[in-house]
Amino acid sequence: MCRHSGKTIWIMGIPLSGKTTIGVMLYEWLIFNGWDVEHLDGDVIRKSLCDNLGFSKEDRLENIKRIRFLCNLLNKHSVCTIVSLVTPYQEMRDDNRKYIKDYTEIWLNASLDTCLKRDNRYVYDDSGKMKTSTGFGKLNMFDLFDLPKNPDVICYTDKETVEESMEKILKYIFRKRWEIWETIKGKQ
Ligand SMILES: Nc1ncnc2c1ncn2[C@@H]1O[C@H](COP(=O)(O)OP(=O)(O)OP(=O)(O)O)[C@@H](O)[C@H]1O
Ligand SMILES: [Mg+2]
Repeated sequence: MCRHSGKTIWIMGIPLSGKTTIGVMLYEWLIFNGWDVEHLDGDVIRKSLCDNLGFSKEDRLENIKRIRFLCNLLNKHSVCTIVSLVTPYQEMRDDNRKYIKDYTEIWLNASLDTCLKRDNRYVYDDSGKMKTSTGFGKLNMFDLFDLPKNPDVICYTDKETVEESMEKILKYIFRKRWEIWETIKGKQ
């Protein structure tokens, strides 16, 4: 059953900020409520659709381009897409907004300290730098992740519970739809 026109909800943030956790929860919530929805998680995409790509800036841009293509394809057929991906550069987000028709950007904003404490998969090394296996090399995260200029929703996942962050996102998604509906009604 489809109760929406295809939209893309793009969840971004530094490693361990909670992208997969929130993405899966949102996916399950929307499925439970009858939406046609697909969850595209960065880790999974890297092992399938984009397994020939590395982590140079060029390859990262290509990675995003392919995911964006998939989103547009699914959205065209009224399937909502949730993307969980670091999305470190502002130009990636600007392109998303430019090329995805119905795009909502969620920034999971958590301090590096919190993410380091959560690190159960050794994404960071002892000095707070990322390990090469994640593709970021030994550079500091703050040099790599452009501060988002215009996210639609910011969840402070180092202060909020998962449920509080979820509530914030759902409120935004449905408020936007309600406003559109009110505008349409006003024009009739
Ligand atoms: N408000 C919150 N939202 C999301 N996750 C939270 C929140 N509070 C605490 N967490 C915890 O933070 C951890 C985040 O891990 P998760 O794998 O979802 O991060 P990630 O951003 O997908 O990491 P990666 O970039 O490595 O894939 C989980 O253990 C989760 O329970
Ligand atoms: Mg993840």
